[in-house]
Amino acid sequence: MTKRAPRSAASEFWWGTATSAYQIEGATSVNGRGPSTWDTFCAEPGRIADGSTGEVSCDHYRRYAEDVALMGELGVNAYRFSIAWPRVLPTGVGPVNDAGLDFYDRLVDALLAAGVTPVPTLFHWDTPQPLEDAGGWLGRDIAHRFADYVDVVAARLADRVHDWITINEPRELTMLGYALGVHAPGRTAMFDALPAAHHLLLGHGLAADALHAAGVATVGVAASHAPVWPASDEPADTDAAALFDLLDNWLFADALVRGSYPEDLLPLLPPGATDDLPSIGGRLDWYGVNYYNPIRVGAAVAGADQVDGITLPEGLPFSADITGVPMTDFGWPVVPEGLTQMLRLLVERYGDDLPPLVITENGCSYADGPGPDGRVHDVRRIDYLRDHLGALDAAVSAGVDVRGYFCWSLLDNFEWAEGYRQRFGLVHVDFATGTRTPKDSFGWYAEHIRAARG
Ligand code: BGC
Repeated sequence: MTKRAPRSAASEFWWGTATSAYQIEGATSVNGRGPSTWDTFCAEPGRIADGSTGEVSCDHYRRYAEDVALMGELGVNAYRFSIAWPRVLPTGVGPVNDAGLDFYDRLVDALLAAGVTPVPTLFHWDTPQPLEDAGGWLGRDIAHRFADYVDVVAARLADRVHDWITINEPRELTMLGYALGVHAPGRTAMFDALPAAHHLLLGHGLAADALHAAGVATVGVAASHAPVWPASDEPADTDAAALFDLLDNWLFADALVRGSYPEDLLPLLPPGATDDLPSIGGRLDWYGVNYYNPIRVGAAVAGADQVDGITLPEGLPFSADITGVPMTDFGWPVVPEGLTQMLRLLVERYGDDLPPLVITENGCSYADGPGPDGRVHDVRRIDYLRDHLGALDAAVSAGVDVRGYFCWSLLDNFEWAEGYRQRFGLVHVDFATGTRTPKDSFGWYAEHIRAARG
């Protein structure tokens, strides 16, 4: 594997906020957009907790100018959004839907006019349904189709968009979408889901090459990471935690950063997977970390386990939970120091091979809505952000090279299997009317950015 020459990830620290297409755009059958796995999944009874879909959501497709204006007020200098593959290529492959590309063209121009750097993610889980029908990410071909789509998008936008993210959270799509079936496409392949991880990583590598060939300045990824805490010092617990850690963190990061796979997981990957590693590793100009919380893991115990609100099936070789810490309204542990720990673990593992880091997601779900004064006093989100930004500072003070922070999320939005029950936004959205109300955390973050940028 050849190590890429370091490029400047961001000349100025990115103070940003993040969203994704299916979660905010709505307009799912407008102007030629094709169906995605999430449209199909939402239509299946019982899949989404509140029975909702992303059909309207925040209606960002129509209200994007209002949302860009909000970003102007917030004072962010970067915005992470995603491009919907089925909007650009309705069947996943040609022909191109120009109307779909036109939307992102307008969005990019609006962002640039507002002084906000666009940082698009090319794939945030909305696989075109025809490609899923042909096997989806469990097959290899889709990685090449993804690179073809990236060529199309880059040809239209790379003259103005210089910083790109290939894929969002290959871990979640593999584990939640293909192994456990709680996200689209709803497959329950358990350990047989791991080929999806490999093909997503291959898709990343091929897409990164396409972007670099198009002359873009920087390519990143958005990978979720959680420090794994063994439940005890007993070997049964530390062994279970070590396996979980490989699956959760290092399967993905080793391939992306070093172009290798953890030896112990090779039997679960497709035959010949290691031959693809030279096409996966070493392509990143910066490494994006999505951080929410650590996970405590021990040997399997009878009874259902909950991880981040998801019930794990029986029969897994580990159990996971965390108690004794504050929880968000989603039931996710609030552990800011886990962010410092995770960043340090990445540095310890990869040393000089690790590109500069960017926090591509961090945020919390609290249900606060407008009070009698019409304002949203989300003090718990302010505490959360203050503490996590403090944890980020601690990592930077310890020498970790971090180039940006994107708060998840700009808007309350469609939170996947939870529907609209979880609110991660700095801006409250009334989903009946589309009305946006900046929360108190919006003002706090704006102030923080102003102070940090001097
Ligand atoms: C995803 C987002 C999601 C957020 C909160 C991340 O896993 O990238 O799409 O909304 O976490 O669950």
